[in-house]
Amino acid sequence: MVLILDFGGQYTQLIARRIRECKVYCEILPFSTPLEKITAGKPKGIVFSGGPSSVYSDRAPSADPKLYELGIPVLGICYGMQLMAHQLGGKVSPARQREYGKSVINVLSKDELLTGLEDAEPCWMSHGDLVESPPPGFGVSACTSLAPVAAMSNRAQKLYAVQFHPEVVHTPKGMDILKNFLYNICGCHASWTMESFLETEVAEVHKTVGNRQVLCALSGGVDSSVAAVLVHRAIGDQLTCVFVDHGLLRKGEAEQVISTFRDKFHINLIAVDAEERFLSRLQGVTDPERKRKIIGEEFIRVFEEEAAKLGQIDYLVQGTLYPDVVESGTATAAVIKSHHNVGGLPEDMKLKLIEPLRWLFKDEVRVLGEELGIPEEVVWRQPFPGPGLAIRILGEITKDKLEVLREADAIVLDEIKKAGLYRSIWQAFAVLPQMKSVGVMGDERTYAYTAVLRAVQSNDGMTADWVRLPYEVLESISSRIVNELKEINRVVYDITSKPPGTIEWE
Ligand code: XMP
Repeated sequence: MVLILDFGGQYTQLIARRIRECKVYCEILPFSTPLEKITAGKPKGIVFSGGPSSVYSDRAPSADPKLYELGIPVLGICYGMQLMAHQLGGKVSPARQREYGKSVINVLSKDELLTGLEDAEPCWMSHGDLVESPPPGFGVSACTSLAPVAAMSNRAQKLYAVQFHPEVVHTPKGMDILKNFLYNICGCHASWTMESFLETEVAEVHKTVGNRQVLCALSGGVDSSVAAVLVHRAIGDQLTCVFVDHGLLRKGEAEQVISTFRDKFHINLIAVDAEERFLSRLQGVTDPERKRKIIGEEFIRVFEEEAAKLGQIDYLVQGTLYPDVVESGTATAAVIKSHHNVGGLPEDMKLKLIEPLRWLFKDEVRVLGEELGIPEEVVWRQPFPGPGLAIRILGEITKDKLEVLREADAIVLDEIKKAGLYRSIWQAFAVLPQMKSVGVMGDERTYAYTAVLRAVQSNDGMTADWVRLPYEVLESISSRIVNELKEINRVVYDITSKPPGTIEWE
């Protein structure tokens, strides 16, 4: 195992993902983690991440200097290198000219870290301070035209550092450098696979749960599906899943969830058809926030009613992912946190949490899902909001509008899939604004709804850009929607990024 100490760098999670891509397990800890906790997991190597601070600023994050004496190899990246230099007696100063973006390093010494590199290699830099001279005992192994020390090492003490970012794709040999560190310097083996993770996690869940009962709110999304199947593999029928169909799902989705979990995996599944209940509570409601609140509350009510029928339950499965764990600063969230798919389960349910995906990134969850034999449509499903189509129908929600939107949405997804774009797009969907316009079909004047097409690219949903869909794909979506759905006579494409727009329309 390798540890990454986080000094607040924007790429810290990316470092973790890269290391795991080298099939070495790693975890991220805050820089302030006490030494005993850092050494407790017997890491084979430690990486210092980048960070926005200057080592000279008042509250510059720092590391315990004893870390350098443990004999555990350390790799400092960017701020991590400056900190290492500063703490061990080198000189760090503000750069006369900042270096942001593409740069080229001149490799002066091909030490264990830089072995296999050419004499000059492109790399990605992002720094305002630089190391002017390395600490005693360190050699300079690379420089750039602006940075006299772009890489340095103290081979005897196994301390290595680079000013550039090996974890980003703009440093083409970055993965080689990380592999050099992991395999040659730390002595790690490429043995961490999803198969081994699955085995460990199944055993862990089995041990934790014993003979107690476990509940899971299944949304049909990737995370809750993978979590449920994993837990089921560990404890079988002690797991009960509750799937609430609020009637706001996409075409065929409820059926797919039921057949996957009940027929394929033989999981105890309570499927609640709550469409009427949700629609009657949403009747006449037009305000987006009211809609979300009603759906969230009603979901919890239905879920609690079903849970109450089951008798004693001790654990709740949640599909929490590693980025959430890192961001909350704790490895095990103590309270049931707002369930991103439903908007908050009550804290007084007094259930302990099982979070089998808490060490994984999203792409790793997908690999795990495939390992578990979960169908491709579920594993690769694009994100879908908990309130479902309710926040894609502007204004009042009616059964008729839901039906129209569901069909339009199915056409969008069908065409996107046919064009081979489904996996590479974050989300593609249709929106039904409260808007009718005039058109002509045959010799008839029409007066019908406009459908909006939205397709965005994003890494995490926080920011997004609209996708430059090929004209042919736009054309086939538009013509199929207006030809197949008499309620729609116009299709427009939303070309707003986020910010300033949001991905969803409500
Ligand atoms: P926005 O519209 O805020 O969406 O740009 C960002 C991402 O979050 C999803 N989303 C939700 N997911 N419950 C969810 O589980 C919600 O209430 C919700 N609202 C938005 C949205 O689909 C996008 O991926």
